Amino acid sequence: MSVFFVTGTDTEVGKTYVSSLLLQAAASVGKRTVGYKPVSAGCEFINGEWSNEDARALQNASSIEVSLQDVNPIALKPPIAPHIAAKQAGLEITQQNIIAGFEHLVAKQPDFMLVEGAGGWRLPLSSSLWMPEVVKALKLDVIVVVGMRLGCLNHAMLTIDAIQRDGLKVKGWVANQLSAQMPVYQDNLNTLKGAISAPLIAEIPFSQSVEALQRIIHRMEVLA
Ligand SMILES: Nc1ncnc2c1ncn2[C@@H]1O[C@H](COP(=O)(O)OP(=O)(O)O)[C@@H](O)[C@H]1O
Ligand SMILES: [Mg+2]
Repeated sequence: MSVFFVTGTDTEVGKTYVSSLLLQAAASVGKRTVGYKPVSAGCEFINGEWSNEDARALQNASSIEVSLQDVNPIALKPPIAPHIAAKQAGLEITQQNIIAGFEHLVAKQPDFMLVEGAGGWRLPLSSSLWMPEVVKALKLDVIVVVGMRLGCLNHAMLTIDAIQRDGLKVKGWVANQLSAQMPVYQDNLNTLKGAISAPLIAEIPFSQSVEALQRIIHRMEVLA
């Protein structure tokens, strides 16, 4: 089984979008896939239940049939920092909760599993727990989604540096185009390619999901 943690240079940079494509790409070569979003903040009332958009996207992109509760056991309603939303709800997010949800999905025997973080890399979960500690406990290599926009060079390098300082390995990174035309896109991409030693898994174009899926399918060997 291959399992990776997916982080990004910020919130709203395409972690869910890219994770869904990676899950679909792995399924297209016959793998049993599942996405896990241990902690989300921001829910809508849909089909008689409160659920988070990322959880719904990962559930749809998983080839294994899983409930929203399986994909996203800790779904906090307000779209704010999770540790604050948890405190408001009188809950404490613990490493044990997140690992229990992880093991519940592993028991379904996926071949390829992605765990999507929330926000960027250094995410507090409570007054005494940060997401990187959980990733370390689970011994997961990390995929970094770089949202290609002005400022991404600094965010990408700081994120990769922090992951390595936390004692974890960057398995690869994805250049995700957040707009149809980023000025000097190619120069920015080349700068990142020169500065990041981990492999570039894929370049994902803006809003062309079929082409994006093809690009990722051809690169799945990077994650073998
Ligand atoms: N390559 C892309 N092409 C088109 N839309 C994208 C792309 N990447 C992200 N988006 C859109 O941008 C928004 C933020 O992406 P999302 O995956 O939810 O980010 P994150 O999970 O990092 O918060 C979503 O509406 C998503 O559909
Ligand atoms: Mg997301």
